[in-house]
Amino acid sequence: MNKTIFDFIGGNIGEWKVTSMVALKGEPIESISHIKKISSSLISSNKGIWTLKGIVSNLRYTEKEDKDKLVAIQEDLGRSEATLAAFIPIRKSEAWWNLAQDERRKIMENKSQHTQTGMKYLPAIARKLFHSRDIGEPFDFLTWFEYAPDDAAAFEELLEALRKTEEWNYVDREIDIRLVRI
Ligand code: HEM
Repeated sequence: MNKTIFDFIGGNIGEWKVTSMVALKGEPIESISHIKKISSSLISSNKGIWTLKGIVSNLRYTEKEDKDKLVAIQEDLGRSEATLAAFIPIRKSEAWWNLAQDERRKIMENKSQHTQTGMKYLPAIARKLFHSRDIGEPFDFLTWFEYAPDDAAAFEELLEALRKTEEWNYVDREIDIRLVRI
């Protein structure tokens, strides 16, 4: 199996149990009790109540200095103490996608300080970004975060900061799903 394409299968089995599910913007998705994340392929068929597919891709906006910093401090998924997770599928508006690459970067980094803000929460929060837009999925991005219960408050603070930024004005669908490892 290809190790860059993943299926997030929402249903009633899986190692992550849903503790809350909120549609913050846009249309909700059907409620589920568990999520299973598996290595997959573009052609695999749907399972569970729903399946969201994402690809691990290259960086789009991160410059060398930040990339080196991220690599130096970020943690991997799967730490035993990181028993909590958040799965947040996000879609951005047509207005966002109509911008040029340099305009998008200016909004994310100069005006919204996405990476600078996020870095303050490393290594406590482990993160992984999956791209979905180019494969015709309902969301543009699937974001996944893992953290220990002691860092739950810090994670909320990070979300609050990011959701106030100019970048988030371009988010038109966002589902916030919280999970606990079983
Ligand atoms: C993209 C860092 C938290 C949502 C990125 C990128 C970086 C980054 C460096 C740019 C990747 C690129 O160059 O293509 C961080 C750090 C975080 C964090 C260090 C700390 C934990 C979050 C949170 C969310 C989020 C909490 C949302 C719930 C996204 C999305 C993108 C992204 C949707 C893709 C944006 C786009 O390409 O338009 N993040 N992030 N991030 N991040 Fe974060």
